[in-house]
Amino acid sequence: MGLQGPKTAEWYRRADAALVNGVSSGFRYWGPDDTFVIQRGDGAHVEDMDGNRYIDYQLGFGPVILGHAHPAVSSAVAEAAASGTTFAMTSAREVEAAELFKQAVTWVDRLRFTNTGTEATMHAIRLARAVTGRELMLKFEGSYHGAHDYVLFSTAGSPAGTMGSRRSPVPYQTSSGIPEAIRSLVRTLPFNDLDAVERLLARDGHRIACVLVEPVMGNFFGLMPHDGYLEGLRRLCDDHGVVLIFDEVKTGFRIALGGAQEWFGVTPDLATFAKSMGNGFPVAAVAGREHVVGAWADGGVMQAGTYSGNGLSAAATAATIRELLSGEPLAAVDRAGKALMEGIRGICAEKGVPTQVLGTPSMFGIFFGDEAPRDFRDAGGHDEELYSKVVMGMISRGVLPCDDAREPWFISAAHGDAEVEQSLTAFDEALGEALG
Ligand SMILES: Cc1ncc(COP(=O)(O)O)c(C=O)c1O
Repeated sequence: MGLQGPKTAEWYRRADAALVNGVSSGFRYWGPDDTFVIQRGDGAHVEDMDGNRYIDYQLGFGPVILGHAHPAVSSAVAEAAASGTTFAMTSAREVEAAELFKQAVTWVDRLRFTNTGTEATMHAIRLARAVTGRELMLKFEGSYHGAHDYVLFSTAGSPAGTMGSRRSPVPYQTSSGIPEAIRSLVRTLPFNDLDAVERLLARDGHRIACVLVEPVMGNFFGLMPHDGYLEGLRRLCDDHGVVLIFDEVKTGFRIALGGAQEWFGVTPDLATFAKSMGNGFPVAAVAGREHVVGAWADGGVMQAGTYSGNGLSAAATAATIRELLSGEPLAAVDRAGKALMEGIRGICAEKGVPTQVLGTPSMFGIFFGDEAPRDFRDAGGHDEELYSKVVMGMISRGVLPCDDAREPWFISAAHGDAEVEQSLTAFDEALGEALG
């Protein structure tokens, strides 16, 4: 295909000589001719090494909620950098960031910062195991919770037909290098099937420490939970003494200021946050009710991190949450997202392409198929080839969603009317071209 101009291609050659496949995260690799090398981002745009500018719907896989290089965040970080950033003590910036976090996510009693979503889900699972004294965990097919061993089962990269039957699913291991023993501690089920959870908990509830769920499937088209599903998970976890963990790494500070808990009105025991809370700076959190996070205070449950709560991340978090608390950024995200979702639905209807636009305005996916999927097992109903052609057509017109349809389009407060209009025009033309 060749998405690289001459300078980008040269930079990619340099990248590949030093970084394996030219990337620092496997998901960024699009192949030797299509992997981008970026020189800058501003607002809703990124610019490659040839100076080609794109309207960015990846936003670093979700975090850049205010837009790239947001002035309030950049200046807070610059100021923090000038006063030392990493101490063997708690810093004032860290305290302010945690207080602002609690102002935004009101159900949380206390939290601890980590650096990545991976670290956050790892600690959340350990906490749940520690407070329950149980070893098993349940996650859902098609969900991604980071790159550590316990969660790399039946993620969105699992090929069709590898997960057993719906009634008796088999966890599909999505990476080599994970000890066989780990698999025996993980249970996987299709999303949106409360009966399946009920059956599992009736049988094994006394051995299950936690149910770990992405309330909206942020790694599978932004698929929403059916009405009553999250409420049902809450009830079943209460009945069986299981810790309910919301993985809000993508939904937190994005679908609403208070994340999925605010949007759906269902409160977990514990939740993991990252991405939009720091507008792209490396920060995450494990946050929850005192009966769970209090286990850290009681002692004997390990949580630590040299860079956790560091000055740069704390400053970025405080500045981002201060902006979000005004309500304006998420209102802008909502406006742009709604216009895009409606525009895409209209264009597809006009061209006679059966399409489901799933998710919320801040984070939505385009499923080219007759019926909305209920869970990850319905992925085969999506026309991947058509989507791929449309994305390539859009990229050539300066609009950059992820080439993988499962990864939602992410909207920032910097996506205004002009970006929406250019994106819809590009979508319309690219779809027309793809249909031939
Ligand atoms: C829902 C969810 N949880 C956890 C993670 C892992 O976060 P990180 O990449 O910061 O380790 C991701 C990453 O995309 C995610 O989407």
